Amino acid sequence: MQVTNEFLQNLRQDYKSATLDEADVDNNPITQFKKWFDHAIEAQVYEPNVMTLATADKAGKPDARIVLLKGVDEDGFRFFTNYLSAKGKELKRNPYAALVFFWPDLERQVRIEGIVEKLDKETSEEYFITRPVTSQIGAVVSPQSQIIPDRRFLEEKFENLKAKSDNKTIAKPAHWGGYIVKPTRIEFWQGRNSRLHDRINFELIKGNWIKTRLAP
Ligand SMILES: Cc1cc2nc3c(=O)[nH]c(=O)nc-3n(C[C@H](O)[C@H](O)[C@H](O)COP(=O)(O)O)c2cc1C
Repeated sequence: MQVTNEFLQNLRQDYKSATLDEADVDNNPITQFKKWFDHAIEAQVYEPNVMTLATADKAGKPDARIVLLKGVDEDGFRFFTNYLSAKGKELKRNPYAALVFFWPDLERQVRIEGIVEKLDKETSEEYFITRPVTSQIGAVVSPQSQIIPDRRFLEEKFENLKAKSDNKTIAKPAHWGGYIVKPTRIEFWQGRNSRLHDRINFELIKGNWIKTRLAP
């Protein structure tokens, strides 16, 4: 089948599985996020920790890609990557990011905006050693976001290091580690009938989370 604009224009879903009332949303958006994350796990959402990470370069040109959430607490949302990647370079010059979660089975979206900081080396090392050795080797040998001649280039580097490592733990390379997105805005979106969706928004103002409702 060929995708046509007519086909896409007729592709729509009415959402009716739940509602989101101000009173039911915790006054702490991190607590509320964890509650929704638990629901996503209970509902067996496929890879619930998949999130879109949007960054922008110094000139404001946006970029977005998927990364995995690897920690959340009162300080913020954590993910791990290559510091020399495109996103790493963008975050160095412009340390602001947005995150988006979409859990289709629950008809829910969460949007987060915040300031990004690198995690300290020890915290990144603690996580790095928990990864499978093959993932550790992958992190060492892949010059993420750079042009490479072909797939063989990567596979040779991988096999060489694998042979040398003898299945022992690999040291975390300096170019790999974590970031934390310290949130200043968190929005919870629940799909509703007739596009009258619920949107409960939190903004961090002078250290306090202020809860409001936004029009869909
Ligand atoms: C499901 C999924 C999970 C991913 N998780 C990560 C991740 O946690 N960290 C990461 O660096 N890249 C992850 N990626 C790859 C990124 O989407 C992206 O291709 C890579 O980080 C390079 O992005 P950049 O060139 O914008 O820096 C994931 C991709 C998918 C589809």
